[in-house]
Amino acid sequence: MMKKKNHSKIKTKAEKDLALKKIKEQLLVATEAPLFAYRTANQYWPVIGDGSSEAKIMLIGEAPGKNEALTGRPFCGSSGKILDKLLNSIALSRAEVYITNIVKDRPPTNRDPLPEEINYYAPFLDQQIEIIQPSVIVTLGRFSMDYLLTKYKLATGTIGQLHGQVLPLEMSFGLINFVPLYHPAATIYNQALKATLIKDFAVLKTFK
Ligand code: URA
Repeated sequence: MMKKKNHSKIKTKAEKDLALKKIKEQLLVATEAPLFAYRTANQYWPVIGDGSSEAKIMLIGEAPGKNEALTGRPFCGSSGKILDKLLNSIALSRAEVYITNIVKDRPPTNRDPLPEEINYYAPFLDQQIEIIQPSVIVTLGRFSMDYLLTKYKLATGTIGQLHGQVLPLEMSFGLINFVPLYHPAATIYNQALKATLIKDFAVLKTFK
């Protein structure tokens, strides 16, 4: 028997933009957020996401760093420079994709996000995915990869095993592709990983 799918209503661009704006408004005043006090004490912004609400490709990083928290824009520091080069290498602009993170506020001293932080912020990411309805989700680094692998009960594996693979992902809005990639920051001092990330990124050309 065919499995019945709960296809969510396709939204117009204006509806998508409004829904994304509501997420931003919610997070701005989310006093219960685990990193809210740290954010406000440092006059940081929550970093919601950037790019097109109609993007086919959605990239999900880890958490904002200092530059991102100061500007409210994802990937605008050193990792962002690498990401821009990678996008450039396959002739994609930031305006054509949507870039976000699993954790929306900067963790102190850029430490790894804590499980409770991921638990708190992930539902906002889930909403963003439902709004944008991308045909490809690209995770950058192990935190966003592990979140999707666990949530959708996919085969488990390390980023070393899964990077560059195209995994099918059954979403409420249809079957999409999931491509786990290394985080751009991991390549800063590792030339071999940099070459791997450039090679893996080329996989995305087929989805443009
Ligand atoms: N690293 C991330 O994972 N996200 C950013 O926005 C910046 C650096």
